[in-house]
Amino acid sequence: MTQPEYRSMGGRTALVTGGSGGIGAATALRLAEAGADVAVTYHGHRQEAEAAASQIRELGRRGVALPADLSEPSAPAELVGRVREEFGALDVLVANAGTGHQLAWDDDELDLDTWDLTMAVNLRAPWLLTRAALPAMISRNFGRVLYVSSVAALNGGIVGPHYAASKAGLHGLMHHLAARVAAHGVTVNTIAPALITGTRFFPGEPAGSRTMPVPIPVGRTGRPEEVADLAVAMLTNAYLTDKVITLDGGLYPS
Ligand SMILES: NC(=O)c1ccc[n+]([C@@H]2O[C@H](COP(=O)([O-])OP(=O)(O)OC[C@H]3O[C@@H](n4cnc5c(N)ncnc54)[C@H](OP(=O)(O)O)[C@@H]3O)[C@@H](O)[C@H]2O)c1
Repeated sequence: MTQPEYRSMGGRTALVTGGSGGIGAATALRLAEAGADVAVTYHGHRQEAEAAASQIRELGRRGVALPADLSEPSAPAELVGRVREEFGALDVLVANAGTGHQLAWDDDELDLDTWDLTMAVNLRAPWLLTRAALPAMISRNFGRVLYVSSVAALNGGIVGPHYAASKAGLHGLMHHLAARVAAHGVTVNTIAPALITGTRFFPGEPAGSRTMPVPIPVGRTGRPEEVADLAVAMLTNAYLTDKVITLDGGLYPS
């Protein structure tokens, strides 16, 4: 029996923001395994992004690490331009980079700078990236956009109001865009994970730990590779659009 093989990303080009982080690096690698050339971005952690790009090249794909501070309004369009320079086109956008300053459970004190930064990176940047990427996707009749939100968008979460609101905003953005581009071969979806260890965002216990801050029905925290597997499944399915899919070990019942 032949091994199952991802074919639908062969020859495609992808941009994964936050490729220096746990979920971004895992998703970039899975996309490369599925046949795509992949650009990953970093802000503070260049070495991690370079390592991901090097692993992509070891798979025989083109892999590059690009710097970007996605809190800057000009960065998203510049990034899309850089990817087109590198690869000639951009077929797949995974807007994964995110920030979330953790507040104390019993202290919702939040300064405006933190609110604004969180909105800029988590919500404005995905919108600006999509705005820069979509016209060419539409004219080429193929495109994939995937946002990485959070279960916090659905239940409020444990980080703070800034984080929950920024992630919920991605759902509205997706709903607005998906219907408008669906007939042009472009899908727009969102993956909403929770408690993924092996990331700087949630170092937690070692991945797969059975001691956790909230009881997870599956009995352990999630792994970046599990998010990456679902992300690639969503990106390779042309009939899936305008959907939020949670990946949370059964935490949020939907
Ligand atoms: N881990 C979880 O349990 C969990 C749950 C739900 C949702 N998420 C979401 O998953 C996504 C990936 O996070 P992760 O868990 O993989 O955590 P991570 O390892 O901390 O990765 C976060 C990524 O975002 C990038 N980033 C942060 N601020 C940035 C900025 N201003 N400009 C450009 N890039 C920036 C980081 O770049 P540098 O490190 O290079 O600065 C890093 O690559 C985030 O959107 C997060 O909200 C995570």
